[in-house]
Amino acid sequence: MLDCGAFLCAITQSTRTYARDLLTHPTENIMRVLGIETSCDETGVAIYDSQEGLLAHRLYTQIAIHAQYGGVVPELASRDHIRKLIPLIQQVLKESHIVKADGIAYTAGPGLIGALLVGATVARSLAWGWQVPAIGINHLEGHLLVALLEQPAPTFPFLALLVSGGHTQLIAAQGLGQYHILGESVDDAAGEAFDKTAKLLGLGYPGGPALAQLAQQGRPHAFEFPRPMTTRPGLDFSFSGLKTHALITWQTSAQTDQVRADIAYAFQQAVIDTLIIKCRRALQHTGFTQLVIAGGVGANQQLRQQFRQLADRLHITVYYPRPLFCTDNGAMIAYAGHLHLTAGHTEPLSFKVHPRWSLNNSA
Ligand code: KG4
Ligand code: ZN
Repeated sequence: MLDCGAFLCAITQSTRTYARDLLTHPTENIMRVLGIETSCDETGVAIYDSQEGLLAHRLYTQIAIHAQYGGVVPELASRDHIRKLIPLIQQVLKESHIVKADGIAYTAGPGLIGALLVGATVARSLAWGWQVPAIGINHLEGHLLVALLEQPAPTFPFLALLVSGGHTQLIAAQGLGQYHILGESVDDAAGEAFDKTAKLLGLGYPGGPALAQLAQQGRPHAFEFPRPMTTRPGLDFSFSGLKTHALITWQTSAQTDQVRADIAYAFQQAVIDTLIIKCRRALQHTGFTQLVIAGGVGANQQLRQQFRQLADRLHITVYYPRPLFCTDNGAMIAYAGHLHLTAGHTEPLSFKVHPRWSLNNSA
C-alpha cells in the first residue's frame, strides 16, 4: 500500500530541491522553450530554440465547436484544451526531435479563467516533472513580441498597435517588459466590432475574416461611415458606434447582397482609417520610427496594405507577424518565454492566472 506520509515527504523534498536548483542555477542553459497558449478558443503549442529559432509549432482551433453558438462557450473551451493540449505537446516534441524542453512558458492571462488554468496547470506540472523553470506570460505581450521572430525584425523602442478580439491598444514598447499604454478602446475592441458587425450582417463565426472577405465585393463610397473619436485629441478609440451605424444602415437599406458587401466595405474602411489616424498621432507623439502591428485584426490584408502606404508616406517602417502569428498561437508564448527566461526572470512554484491583466504591469 502507498505510504502517504513518505510520499508527501518525498514530494516536499523533491520540490525543495527543484526550487533550490532553479535559484542556484538560474537560466543560462535555457536553449529550448516550450510555449503553451490556451487563453481562449485556440490550443497553441510551439518550441523555440535560442540557436535555431522556431523548431515546431502546432495550432488546434475550436471554431467548429463554438460556431453553432455564435461565440466562445468558456466551459467547452476548457474541456477541449484538456483533450488537445497533451497530444499537441507530444507532437511538437517529436517534430523537434527532443524529449523535453529546458524551460516552459504558458499564457497566464488575460483570458478565460478555466482555459488559462488548463494551460498553466499542464505547464507547471510538466516543469516539475522535467525539473525545468516555467514562467507565466501575458498574452498581449506575446502578440506584441512575435513580430521580433520575423526578418527583418524591429528593435526596441517601437510603437505597437495591438488589435485583437479583446483589445485595441497603442503601446510604447521601450524594452522587454517595459510597456506603456498610450491609448485604448473605451468600448468594443476592433476585432470584437468586426465580429459583431459580421454577425448582424448574417455572416458566420468568427466574423472578422468573413467580413473582410465580403468587403472585397463592396463598392467604395456606397456608404460613408464615421471615423470615431478622430476629431478630438487623444489616442483612445471607440468602435461600438460603428457596429450600430452598420445595423441602422442595413435596416434602412434594400437588403441585397451588394448592399451587404458595401456595408462590409464601409465598416472595414472606417476601422482602418481610424486606426491609421490614431497611429499617425502616436508616432508624432513618441517620435518612434518603427510600428508593429499585432493581434488577430493585423491579419487583415487591406489593413496591412494601407499601413504599408502610411509607412512609406511617413518614412517609417511597419512590421507585421506572418498572418498565422497575428491570431493566437503557441509560438508567441514560446518566444516571449524564451526572452524572459534568458533574461533571468523567474516565478515561484505557486502560480496564479489573471483573467484581466494589463500590459502596463507586465514588467
Ligand atoms: O488575437 P486574436 O486571435 O485573439 C484575441 O486575443 O482576441 O484575435 C481574434 C480577432 C477576432 O475578433 C477576429 O475576428 C479578428 O481577430 N480577425 C480579423 C481577421 N482575422 C482575425 N479581423 C479582421 N480581418 C481579418 N482578416
Ligand atoms: Zn490573442
